Amino acid sequence: MGLCLATFGQSHVPDLSQAARRADALLARMTLEEKIGQLVLLTSFGAATGPPHEQAALEANIRNGNCGSVFNALTVAEIRKLQKLAVDQTRLHVPLLFGYDVVHGYKTIFPIPLGEAASWDLRAIEHSARVAAVEASAAGLNWTFAPMVDIARDPRWGRICEGAGEDPFLGSAVARSQVRGFQGKDLTAPDTVLACVKHFAAYGAAMSGRDYNTVDVSERTLREVYLPPYAAAVQAGASSVMTAFNEYDGTPATANGFLLKRILRDELGFKGIVVTDYAAISELVAHGSAVDESEAAQQALAAGVDLDMEDGVYLHNLKQLLRDHRVTRKQIDAAAKRMLELKLTLGLLDDPYRHCDEQREARLVGAREHLEAAYRMACESFVLLKNDSQNLPLKAGARIAVIGPLADSQRDLLGSWKGDGGWVSVETVLDGIKRNDATDEVVFARGCEVASTNRASFAEAVAAARKADVVVAVMGESWDMSGENASRTSINLPGVQTDLLRELRKTGKPLVLVLLNGRPLDLEAESTLADAILEAWFPGMEGGKAVADVLFGKHNPCGKLPVTFPRRLGQVPIFYSVKNTGRPVNPARPDEPYKSTYLDCPNDPLYPFGFGLGYTTFACAGPHLEQSALGPGGKITASAAVSNTGTRDGVAVVQLYIRDLVGSVTRPVLELKGFQRVELKAGESRLVSFDISENDLAFLRKDMTWGTEPGAFRAFIGLDSRELRSATFQLSKK
Ligand code: GLC
Repeated sequence: MGLCLATFGQSHVPDLSQAARRADALLARMTLEEKIGQLVLLTSFGAATGPPHEQAALEANIRNGNCGSVFNALTVAEIRKLQKLAVDQTRLHVPLLFGYDVVHGYKTIFPIPLGEAASWDLRAIEHSARVAAVEASAAGLNWTFAPMVDIARDPRWGRICEGAGEDPFLGSAVARSQVRGFQGKDLTAPDTVLACVKHFAAYGAAMSGRDYNTVDVSERTLREVYLPPYAAAVQAGASSVMTAFNEYDGTPATANGFLLKRILRDELGFKGIVVTDYAAISELVAHGSAVDESEAAQQALAAGVDLDMEDGVYLHNLKQLLRDHRVTRKQIDAAAKRMLELKLTLGLLDDPYRHCDEQREARLVGAREHLEAAYRMACESFVLLKNDSQNLPLKAGARIAVIGPLADSQRDLLGSWKGDGGWVSVETVLDGIKRNDATDEVVFARGCEVASTNRASFAEAVAAARKADVVVAVMGESWDMSGENASRTSINLPGVQTDLLRELRKTGKPLVLVLLNGRPLDLEAESTLADAILEAWFPGMEGGKAVADVLFGKHNPCGKLPVTFPRRLGQVPIFYSVKNTGRPVNPARPDEPYKSTYLDCPNDPLYPFGFGLGYTTFACAGPHLEQSALGPGGKITASAAVSNTGTRDGVAVVQLYIRDLVGSVTRPVLELKGFQRVELKAGESRLVSFDISENDLAFLRKDMTWGTEPGAFRAFIGLDSRELRSATFQLSKK
């Protein structure tokens, strides 16, 4: 049984052979203490990204050879200083790795990853990671703790903002692009950083959407839904993998040999290093899988963990565990060798200061062209959810009342994991609207705070709205209401924002809602109150400017939801790739009894996966199949004529889904198997074609092997996962 590793283009897996030979030679000269030191990762003080652990005397540990890697050290000056300690003052002069959470930018902060995924623009996503790598490496770093590729289908989970949403196919495509962006084509190049795919595995399946909570999914679900993006990242050459905080099948991921050896090493062929998440080895005691930190260290090493992040459990226990024959020298040597191989692959042993160039740092970090890329990505990330009576684009010169607690916010634009990005000079949505409207007719009234229940400023906001031609409400979540340790039991707009929207609706003015948020929200009320809704996520440093420019029509929004927006939380988990069940609703007879429905809510979401409007309209005919059957190893071509039926040029994201009608196990009613971003001028039509190969029809069969089964399939082509047309084809045995 194995994971399906569809072949995706040329991987950039680093060549470890020469590094292996040099690592062996170095390892042979190392003492046990020096080898253990290579398995220790300690935090510096440029950022705090985990529970306040006793901050070990970092510099002393480096000098004593007790620390082989550092994270959260920022700037060339700081990194050069620490690297000098390792190179000059340790016996074998082994340089340090320097890691940091460069998730959506280092200094130039791009939209949050969920927003980037909404662009469905793989080239732009790769470029975003490339820019992050150029800046991070120019600042002295050589390792990023990204991409985060955890599939997430529960909007209560705060870290849904960090990934690419609910779908394994889209998530895998995004993961490959991010790894390629971070690592480039040559890891010895000074403008690349090691990627670290995280959090292995199935962290996004946290029960009840509560961060760090238990994960209890079947192996089938693990392999079909959660593993593909990790597999894609590994196949794209990711140099490191980070273990997840959660357990899988009763064993914490950090001590889970099934995940770290059977799947990651044996099935995926991963050759890089495995690093824990923050203090995750010590947390094996809290999990109840280890009686103490000594046993935790033993379990983690046995499971295949190479590098211990921050808690010092390897440093304080491995030597005694070896003496007590509870770990082996072979285990320690194998982990230390992988660390050395990676440093050799980076070229660090030949030039420990290869990333320490103050001139590059000054020239590249925060460069103008990086901001322009962040602006373009922000424009592409927005999803227009509603635009009744075409209230958007706004007309310059209109009297505009800008209302809401996020209209003039700078910090919230950056979202969580903002890297070393600053915000004091970023343009807010309000600034951008004033700039575009080019009149002094733009009035701002906050109306309320994000999370408070205070309604005292409603009246002022309503008064401003009454005097305006159009109202733009900028609402949502604050940046720290999503991200790590930021799960919510409600996915409504926090505080009294919705009540304020109701008051604004009563004025009868055209009402545009701009959302800044890190997760799908329950917009059932807002969808009836607002005439237009623009989902802008947390759009990054250039996001305020981009939101305003899109509102005024300088760009035609083209984003598509990478995650389902439910009508209400009670539907969660809700996603498009569901099973049919034995009692599916009959669309022709929705009120038929004894069907899988709710008493109080339709089954379908408010806004489905893949959905997004624009300032033009598109039509999708077809699909037409060139053949009605394919055999083993064969393919068929599905095509659809896509037309821009509106008055503006625009981008359509054409999506291909399939359904396997009958299988040895039940199959989802839809699975995304392809997508193409198609730029069409007003009035232009184009035939969009997809090749469907047998490999695209493979799945985890009843016997848990990957492969296909003959039978009838449907191919669907459309512009979201709801409005689809299909055609049937057969997969034959021969
Ligand atoms: C945090 C996060 C992880 C991050 C690490 C280092 O706890 O879970 O994503 O990379 O610590 O900052």
